[in-house]
Amino acid sequence: MAERTKVTIPYLREKKAQGKPIVMLTAYDYPIATIEDEIGVDMILCGDSLGMTVYGFSGTNPVTMDLIVPHTAAVKRGAPHSFVIGDMPFLSYQASNERAVLNAGRFIQEAGADGVKMEGGEEMAERVRSIHNAGIAVMGHLGLTPQSVSALGGFKAQGRSVESALKLISDAKIIEEAGAFSILLEAIPSEIGQIITERAGIPIIGIGAGPYTDGQVLVVHDALGFFKGHKAKFVKQYCNLNEIVRKALQGYQQDLADRVYPAPEHCYGIDPEVLAEIKGSLK
Ligand code: KIV
Repeated sequence: MAERTKVTIPYLREKKAQGKPIVMLTAYDYPIATIEDEIGVDMILCGDSLGMTVYGFSGTNPVTMDLIVPHTAAVKRGAPHSFVIGDMPFLSYQASNERAVLNAGRFIQEAGADGVKMEGGEEMAERVRSIHNAGIAVMGHLGLTPQSVSALGGFKAQGRSVESALKLISDAKIIEEAGAFSILLEAIPSEIGQIITERAGIPIIGIGAGPYTDGQVLVVHDALGFFKGHKAKFVKQYCNLNEIVRKALQGYQQDLADRVYPAPEHCYGIDPEVLAEIKGSLK
């Protein structure tokens, strides 16, 4: 396989300009990040979805900076070439510009991330601007924003009325002008995804935003069929990892029941003379 070069923002912009799909996935740990980096995934998000996929919470809001930063660091260690993004958790940026910059900085300083992502439209534009002005690459997130799921009335598609679609289109421009290098659109009609993508000068990444965005992202546990929770309409499952793991672990259980594991090839030997001496020394 050809040696990869590091993914940069100019490279992502070039892909948009050339109409080449930007490939993005989430990762929360070193082994998955290693595979994603090796196959050439452009951007890897250590998403706050780890609250659900890895920690078993019912939503993303219990995720804290102290929880997600070490996961982002592990992802970065496994993915030296992909553009690694740390997801700003609930309450890590909403309260003030200063708090937003300091927490965004933790992803860069402690985890070695290449950038951060945060949810919100016009109301968060000043946070985006502050983080950008601090020299940190920041990605916006519009549409279904899971940290506000309660205020949005549940996990449902956004931008389906004239008013909410126009707000989304306007928010995307405002977040771009505030300095975002890219925007993620979640669960909106394909046509609105297309309008936003065509009007944007920055790469637009979709998850449930149709086929016209500059790139796509999936939660890796959904793509692998590992996560057994709610499956959104936009998820395409590429294997059934839950079933694969289940069968493998049942195989281990069965081997123990049948006493076929450990077999001789899994066991360490000892020099017979040494063993005899040990036994002889036993009282
Ligand atoms: O946290 C996450 O995984 C996300 C998805 C929408 C990609 O933000």
